[in-house]
Amino acid sequence: MGMKLCGSDFVACRGFLYTVFILNFVLCCHLLQLQPFVDGKPGDTAALFERVSQSIKAKKYNEALADLTAAIEADPALSEAYWRGASILRQLCRYEESEKSYKKFLEMKPGNSAAEKELSQLYQAQNALSSAHNLFDSGDFTKALEYIDKVVLVFSPACPKAKLLKVRLLLASKDYSNAISETGYILKEDEDNLEALLLRGRAYYYLADHDVATRHYQKGLRLDPEHGELKKAYFGLKNLLKKTKSAEDNASKGKLRLAVEEYRAALALDPNHTAHNVHLHLGLCKVFVKLGRGKDAVTSCTEVLEIDEDLVEALVQRGEAKLLVEDWEGAVADLKSAAEKSPQDMSIRETLMKAERLLKLSQRKDWYKILEVSKTASISEIKKAYKKLALQWHPDKNVDNREEAEAKFREIAAAYEILGDEEKRTRYDNGEDIDDNGMGMGGGGFNPFGGGAQQFTFHFEGGFPGGGFPGGFGGFHF
Ligand SMILES: *[C@@H]1O[C@H](CO)[C@@H](O)[C@H](O)[C@H]1NC(C)=O
Ligand SMILES: *[C@@H]1O[C@H](CO)[C@@H](O)[C@H](O)[C@H]1NC(C)=O
Repeated sequence: MGMKLCGSDFVACRGFLYTVFILNFVLCCHLLQLQPFVDGKPGDTAALFERVSQSIKAKKYNEALADLTAAIEADPALSEAYWRGASILRQLCRYEESEKSYKKFLEMKPGNSAAEKELSQLYQAQNALSSAHNLFDSGDFTKALEYIDKVVLVFSPACPKAKLLKVRLLLASKDYSNAISETGYILKEDEDNLEALLLRGRAYYYLADHDVATRHYQKGLRLDPEHGELKKAYFGLKNLLKKTKSAEDNASKGKLRLAVEEYRAALALDPNHTAHNVHLHLGLCKVFVKLGRGKDAVTSCTEVLEIDEDLVEALVQRGEAKLLVEDWEGAVADLKSAAEKSPQDMSIRETLMKAERLLKLSQRKDWYKILEVSKTASISEIKKAYKKLALQWHPDKNVDNREEAEAKFREIAAAYEILGDEEKRTRYDNGEDIDDNGMGMGGGGFNPFGGGAQQFTFHFEGGFPGGGFPGGFGGFHF
């Protein structure tokens, strides 16, 4: 090849070969000068560092460190081995060992600015890691994550402690899907990492993926049956599932009081487990509705809706619960919102209509109460009560509080208009709408004192003359 090359341009070719020769010579001198022999053979150092680089690339940090340690044992003056070792230890966040190694190298090569810079990065990473721990303890998860991501994992990308702390921070921030992917990376490199198995299991658990969570806990416990946190997580989950099943079974078998106890016991196990507790609260709410315990049911269903405001079933159940406590407006509001979210559901519509009717009934005047009689009062009782009250509130008899008396008197007359009439009373009792004849509700159209009172008939003898009251009280007789 050399001959062929030199055939065309001999002078250029000779220059080229000369350059190659010189470069080779310089490189050899360089190696000999910088890197003394390992086991007395030149070239071994280059091979060593090549091997170390390959190990680092393959993330086999322990192999790399073992190679470097052996090389230093063979030749304690091999300064670069200290530097390389320091750098690996920094990446692994073994900060104290790393610091020693950097310092050793800097003793041998004082003022090496690249090594000095790395040492200062080590200090930054070390401080950031301890800050992140403190922030975690004080509950500032966002800031702690920033320290981990922007400092620790930049200078110590292979730091297992930082990676696991990051997962704990993600869990504390309820970022379960990222906790799952981070533990995925850790387990890919170290499939038996117990803490990663625990934390990944916990992420699945909080997503209510209980089977996958159980599998992670079980794998960890096969590796270390006495691992405290894994045991607690595994048996805690088992117990939760057992209590939940017992509550649901009791509820479906109609053993409602037992179901209440079991639901409450299950809910007490992990108040943080909202993805599961939302179902427990809903189950409990339904049982309370069945038991007619409206107030408790409202509380339980409200817990559900605080976790998931769109859960139609919880809105319906709370609507039913509010009917039980006669909170008609509240019931209508919940059922309306359920009907809007689930427009096809006819049974929600029916319940809503019922609630609306009850609300309307509750808003109309209670004529019985106004006449101070019971709902079962006979017609003569009603008549008697009316006469008594009309006499009591006759405006002429109440000169000092004439306005109040007039209002009362109007109301009493309106009550009697309905309850004193058998047909109207029946319609009223049935909840029918009889307000549209212009009377009642707010008294808009009815005024026995004004010219429009003719339409109103008094049913007792000697009643008020149609166009208003005669001057004196004596104008009518009972
Ligand atoms: C009902 O609850 C009790 C505990 O209070 C439990 O022992 C029992 O198995 C449950 N019943 C059903 C049918 O699950
Ligand atoms: C629930 O979360 C709080 C705050 O994150 C924590 O202190 C507590 O230990 C958790 N409880 C359980 C049972 O995990």
